[in-house]
Amino acid sequence: MDRSGVPPARPEVEGLQAYSAPLEGRRGLLRLDFNENTVGPSPKVVEAIRAIPADHYAIYPEYDGLREDVIAALVPPGTPAGGGLTPSHIGVFNGVDAAIHAVFQAYGAAGDRLLTTSPTFGYYAPCARMQGMAIEALPHRMPGFAFPLAEIRAALAPDASGAVPRLLLLCNPNNPTGTRLPAADVLALAATAPRTLVVVDELYEAFTGDSVLPPLLADAAAAGGDPFARHPNLLVLRSLSKTAGIAGLRIGFAIGAAALVDRVSRVTGPYDVNSFAVTAARAALADQAYIDAYVAEVLRARDWLVTRLREAGVEHHVAGGNYLLLWPRRPVVEVERELREAGILVRSMAGKPQIDGSLRVSLGTPEQMERFWAAYRQIDG
Ligand SMILES: Cc1ncc(COP(=O)(O)O)c(C=O)c1O
Repeated sequence: MDRSGVPPARPEVEGLQAYSAPLEGRRGLLRLDFNENTVGPSPKVVEAIRAIPADHYAIYPEYDGLREDVIAALVPPGTPAGGGLTPSHIGVFNGVDAAIHAVFQAYGAAGDRLLTTSPTFGYYAPCARMQGMAIEALPHRMPGFAFPLAEIRAALAPDASGAVPRLLLLCNPNNPTGTRLPAADVLALAATAPRTLVVVDELYEAFTGDSVLPPLLADAAAAGGDPFARHPNLLVLRSLSKTAGIAGLRIGFAIGAAALVDRVSRVTGPYDVNSFAVTAARAALADQAYIDAYVAEVLRARDWLVTRLREAGVEHHVAGGNYLLLWPRRPVVEVERELREAGILVRSMAGKPQIDGSLRVSLGTPEQMERFWAAYRQIDG
């Protein structure tokens, strides 16, 4: 027992710090710091939530129809037999963060190895540490933050004792470097490492189109059968936080072989996803046109901003995702603070390998990017 008198937690937890992100006081500001949708959901989502009768708040959530709606949104129209995707291929979680946590709880034992790249999304490492796993994070190839494909392939091979990584976490496109990996490479990595669970975090795939699902569904539609039959060790993560504008409601999906989704779902509670999230997700999934229009707007805004950055000679890196990296001339913490004073939130990447000294700026609408650019030029011009 330490001086607080509190009984010690598991040794792995004693060594952890709570995952903290600067999430307070963001309302009313231009939020370019968490890569969320910057405008909110479809009006149909708002209507659907408002239509929930108050007495339904008293009832535990029901998930009927949700998985079918996810499938309808994932499978291109006209695909024979829905590409073989069934509700048992779809896991539902309280945000993709909860899906990631569940993967580690279900699969990561003390001493197992997590293989990933660096820098990458900040929640993988704490999940590995809370399980007592070792972390092997391979740097991106410089210049340009290219995916270290040969290095990852080599690290997937058995070590001297015959052990292989328990988990490979691929963030595609990678947050925060935007690094893209073609779907064929993801599938090839999974096929060469059948003893490793390969998780591909496709949170930002809408902005690149580099998803493994279209080729898997097309193959299954052509040959008949299960889209994950040849990739039982592959799990795909998708969320509605970055495009559909419901990050605050918390819902995310894990898509993979039914037996894999079953295992990952065993470590969650029966009602971890609440009724508002389910209703909002079903309405959001039914309004794909709204999501497509938002993505198109973000891509237009990205082109506009990148042209301004080039003309002004601002050092930057842009690849996949609804974000880019900028290297201010002045100290990054001062620029971040002054942008906040101007009502604009961005994220300093201070301390992160390869991108120390940069700012990650989420991309929103063209008007929002114009506002950002006007303030940035004043502060770091
Ligand atoms: C790469 C990546 N994965 C997962 C998440 C979490 O998404 P969700 O809101 O679905 O929990 C984020 C959010 O920032 C992310 O960037």
